[in-house]
Amino acid sequence: MSESSNIESTLSEDRHFPPPAEFAQQAHLKSVDGYKALHKRSIEDPEGFWTEEASNQYWFKPWDKVLEWNAPDAKWFVGGKANLCYNAVDRQVSEGHGDATAIIWEAEPMDERGEPIVTKLTYHDLMVETAKFANALKAKGVKQGDVVTIYMGMVPELAIATLACARIGAVHSVIFGGFSSQAIKDRVEDGDSKIIITCDGSYRRGKVVPLKDNVDEAAAQTDLVDTVIVYQRCNNDIAWTEGRDVWWRDAMNAVDDHCPCEEMDSEDLAFILYTSGSTGKPKGIMHTTGGYMVWAAMTSRLTFDLHAGDESEVYWCTADIGWITGHTYILYGILPNRVPTIMYEGAPNHPAPDRLWDMVERHKVTKFYTAPTAIRAFMKWGDEHPRKHNLSSLKVLGTVGEPINPEAWMWYHNEIGGGNCPIADTWWQTETGGHMLTPLPGVTTTTPGSCCQPMIGVDAAVVNSEGEEVGTNEGGILVIRKPWPGMLRGIYGDRDRYIDTYWSKFPIEKGYYVPADGARVDENGNFWIMGRIDDVIVVAGHNIGTMEVESTLVAEGTIAEAAVVGYPHDVKGNGIAAFCIPKGDTPAPGSDEAAALKKQLTAYCAKEMGAICKPDQIRFTQALPKTRSGKIMRRLLRDIAAGKEITSDVSTLEDKSIVEKLQASE
Ligand code: PRX
Repeated sequence: MSESSNIESTLSEDRHFPPPAEFAQQAHLKSVDGYKALHKRSIEDPEGFWTEEASNQYWFKPWDKVLEWNAPDAKWFVGGKANLCYNAVDRQVSEGHGDATAIIWEAEPMDERGEPIVTKLTYHDLMVETAKFANALKAKGVKQGDVVTIYMGMVPELAIATLACARIGAVHSVIFGGFSSQAIKDRVEDGDSKIIITCDGSYRRGKVVPLKDNVDEAAAQTDLVDTVIVYQRCNNDIAWTEGRDVWWRDAMNAVDDHCPCEEMDSEDLAFILYTSGSTGKPKGIMHTTGGYMVWAAMTSRLTFDLHAGDESEVYWCTADIGWITGHTYILYGILPNRVPTIMYEGAPNHPAPDRLWDMVERHKVTKFYTAPTAIRAFMKWGDEHPRKHNLSSLKVLGTVGEPINPEAWMWYHNEIGGGNCPIADTWWQTETGGHMLTPLPGVTTTTPGSCCQPMIGVDAAVVNSEGEEVGTNEGGILVIRKPWPGMLRGIYGDRDRYIDTYWSKFPIEKGYYVPADGARVDENGNFWIMGRIDDVIVVAGHNIGTMEVESTLVAEGTIAEAAVVGYPHDVKGNGIAAFCIPKGDTPAPGSDEAAALKKQLTAYCAKEMGAICKPDQIRFTQALPKTRSGKIMRRLLRDIAAGKEITSDVSTLEDKSIVEKLQASE
């Protein structure tokens, strides 16, 4: 976006944070030159590089060939045999680390004395439990390749059920416990899944979420489900269908703990994970065994600089296992690195807004990974909450899921990181399996708002619609030009959609994967994500990234969060509409305060970004329409800005009442 490329100098590009000295000494990757050389090798000699890297993981049988690439189909580590559960769990036991802590689980409720409830599972515990549950699945007729639906709260049994599927080569399809019965039904049908693993309920902000009721409702709408295994967590009243429903403990008591891991082919399907499309039904993203195993472990090790066996290491990713972030960066990438991984059951502000910081202090967390939407919530709740706690154990902070605006980045850096933790702003997708663009803590000089540079093995570029690389700071389409081991292998049951969604923008022979994000690369080679391609607004012929307007609005100081969309404009083609959450009171529509604040914000945007980037509409609101995964539902905002009737599907919206409030906001 050449026209507005001057904006970031006032926002953040003059702020650079080199890696702290201690990282430069101990990190797996210690210098820019070291990173560059390894990156170059990984792209120019993938055979040699991946042969070495993949040898860090456990293979029952080594591969015959590193890669077969026939765009858009990749086969990695062809002929190799491996098992995701073996590599994550059993391997540690057989190498003598059975007593090391694998998972630290903390419940949301406190015990009777107000003390936290914490359970630790060693690798040995996890091996025994997954073996037993794998046998329980087998006893219910689950075979290799069958799709097992998992819809649970964040309890250790969720990790156990997931790993148990991997153990026997069943394909897990984990559904986030915040989703509705409709989402369960759609996914069960799409995956042709006959078995659901669930809980009676889960704790969230002191209340019980009725998971089993949702499963009952979903199962009633399809003939497919013949088995429901129920873990009793909350002791809430549930309905029971004889012959279909089984208690977890009964299923476990009926089997022994001998269940060797299946030797899976490297390209055997490991799991399906659904991701919502901007249109149409959710896509069942397919990941296979060997490539994902190597990718998850390597990216975890490098991004968070994990050191197996270092007793001070405690890693915590606050995501739910129902998202790819939880799959890769709670389980499959972290466990093989032999660093304890925390699973927290509940809400970040229960019983108080300092819950997470209290946990960081008690568990002496060293590596912490969360989302910008959470960081903005923490900012809103107030600095006093983190300041009550000693957060000095923290060494690396990560963020994922959406662009992090520089104000939130700086807050995270200062208030949580004490000004000396490298921040990894990790850009990736459900489809990519793991990190694609990210700072590396021992190497990268970070700049707030930039996800910096390609991961080892990632050939990323920003191109125009002809597929040619654009110039420095020019906006364009982000593409990945070469296959990588953790890439998706397709959309479950929908080959055409796979090709259409990711591979059709450029001639397929080119083999360019298109993630549908807009980006630019600055003079230091750092990537800046400008939002989804749909979120680049062409205003009077100028490309304007919605994200950069949002960051400017927030940088002005009175706004806590902003969402910017385009809408049809008679003169300019598209106009810019901004939905803003003020830090203080929300001024009433039509009031003098609203008019004054609008003027102030418009003037600031004009000054910082140029007149072309001034919002044409500004609305003040107390909340934005977000999906349960925290993403702003922009298509809805586009409809509201255009004054259209809301026709789009709002079923994944967290709070549906927001739609009416927003319509009334102007
Ligand atoms: O638009 C990008 C945004 O989230 C999309 C992927 O969403 P999902 O598959 O749900 O995965 C989220 C967890 C990996 C991307 O196409 N996104 C993700 N991380 C970032 C981001 N946008 C900007 N900066 C990021 N760090």
